[in-house]
Amino acid sequence: MTRKILVLPGDGIGPEITAQASRVLAACQARGLDVEVEEAPVGGTAYDRHGTPLPESTLERARAADAVLLGAVGGPQWDSIEDISKRPEKGLLGLRKELGLFGNLRPALLYPQLAEASSLKPELVAGLDIMIVRELTGGIYFGQPRGIEERDSQRVGFNTYVYSEAEIERIGRVAFEMAQKRGKRLCSVDKANVLEVTMLWREVMERLAPEYPDVELTHMYVDNAAMQLVRAPKQFDVVVTGNMFGDILSDAAAMLTGSIGMLPSASLNESGQGMYEPCHGSAPDIAGQGLANPLATILSVAMMLRYSLGENALAERIEAAVGQVLDDGLRTADIAPQDGPYVSTVEIGDAVLAALEAS
Ligand code: IPM
Ligand code: MG
Repeated sequence: MTRKILVLPGDGIGPEITAQASRVLAACQARGLDVEVEEAPVGGTAYDRHGTPLPESTLERARAADAVLLGAVGGPQWDSIEDISKRPEKGLLGLRKELGLFGNLRPALLYPQLAEASSLKPELVAGLDIMIVRELTGGIYFGQPRGIEERDSQRVGFNTYVYSEAEIERIGRVAFEMAQKRGKRLCSVDKANVLEVTMLWREVMERLAPEYPDVELTHMYVDNAAMQLVRAPKQFDVVVTGNMFGDILSDAAAMLTGSIGMLPSASLNESGQGMYEPCHGSAPDIAGQGLANPLATILSVAMMLRYSLGENALAERIEAAVGQVLDDGLRTADIAPQDGPYVSTVEIGDAVLAALEAS
């Protein structure tokens, strides 16, 4: 059966990096992967063309797809849009919510070739392999009420941090199952010393634990987790946390691996449909200059093959091709040593394709 993949290039460096990922997909097609690939607009680019960051036609095609590959959204030219429901980020958040993509997997894996590029000492990060499981469709990102309004003649801004037991339980199960497949250690990150919503979070995680007796569950406050991530990151195997804490901690974890330009992600719903995207943003400052690192997006294709299409062997081939390119010493600017030589977005894409061909 031909499966459908929808590519959403988005804004900033999005089109450049998804172009390289699409070439990798095409190479997989040439090797017999039976998929149909189409593209649609999202984010600021969609706003400019259609007056909304998530056109109905894009959403419909995303719903019909087996998997979605997204570049990045956002840029300074759209920051002044008054109606926040029209901002590019709402395109991304709308897709997550509408497709029910509650389970966000963000692996922070250090390629040994890049140990020198990490902001931490090589011995602290050698062998680093963390999986952050971030809840993606709830928490303070989506809680109601929210807004900015006038109270007692001054403006106040407010958001609501809310999780139901059911929401906590389903992300908890994703994390426990992930831990079972990996190092069997799960650290749940909360702020249960202050916030009731995360007291409930901790309680639900504790309640689930006996169902996964082979997994060791620990808890950590988010401030401590941020510190531990930069102090001794190898203590972590799987981390599970809510939407906002996961957003913050995954950026920090990304930097440990040398560059956020290396980190893919998967966002899954209950039926295994997924959206795949690099963890980094649209980097408008370097857009259009061939400086962007497409490897996170290419590795997101590998995650797509693994989690939505059941093509593990092909996924491993792509990951090996990326490893090969790094072994060969090729670096984009973000992972190159200071003042060291670097190659362009397309050149590193060429090299991944060549390594894939040779494999
Ligand atoms: C991410 C991004 C998004 C988020 C933004 C672009 C809305 O930072 O995927 O981590 O906060 O979730
Ligand atoms: Mg983020």
